[in-house]
Amino acid sequence: MSDYEIEVIEPAEARPLRRALLHPESTLEAVDHPGDTHPAARHVGAFKDGLLIGIATIHPQPMPGATRTGAWRVRDVAVEHGHRGRGVGALLLERLLEHAAEHEGVVAWATVRIAAFGFFERYGFTRSGAPIDDPHEGPQYLMHAGVRPLHRSWRL
Ligand SMILES: CC(C)(COP(=O)(O)OP(=O)(O)OC[C@H]1O[C@@H](n2cnc3c(N)ncnc32)[C@H](O)[C@@H]1OP(=O)(O)O)[C@@H](O)C(=O)NCCC(=O)NCCS
Repeated sequence: MSDYEIEVIEPAEARPLRRALLHPESTLEAVDHPGDTHPAARHVGAFKDGLLIGIATIHPQPMPGATRTGAWRVRDVAVEHGHRGRGVGALLLERLLEHAAEHEGVVAWATVRIAAFGFFERYGFTRSGAPIDDPHEGPQYLMHAGVRPLHRSWRL
């Protein structure tokens, strides 16, 4: 049994960790994404002893270069340094993909920092095309995975 609780959170609750772990150069308000307020968006948080230590978001958004409907974008999966390597990121990602599956999601995609490439690959995401050079966040990969097969096969 995990020591971590995964719960639905509001986008504003994710801001401090988004900023600290992913966008330290930004203001708190600037870490919001337009998709955060999509009616079907889901924001989840990982809590340890009542403290938020991990965050992740998913919302519907067409995948660049693809015409398939049912595309969901995974954003800002991040876990506090002291809690990494304990399965928290996996729990968060699993919860996001469950949400997409429940809403007839077909594919999940993300622009992934090179340092996190192996994490997404571990869960069946594959790369599409050349690295994207993001002026703020450096090189990133566009990665995607089918939603339903992952949902069925994931049990930690
Ligand atoms: C990427 C991140 C969310 C992973 O969270 P985590 O809680 O440490 O991941 P988990 O412990 O759930 O790891 C699950 C599995 O993925 C693997 N994994 C985790 N991070 C990895 C990485 N960066 N590269 C390769 N494999 C990784 C783990 O080894 C584990 O594999 P196992 O089950 O075979 O042992 C975390 O490292 C993080 O917050 N990074 C900084 C923020 C970031 O870059 N987020 C991604 C934005 S695109």
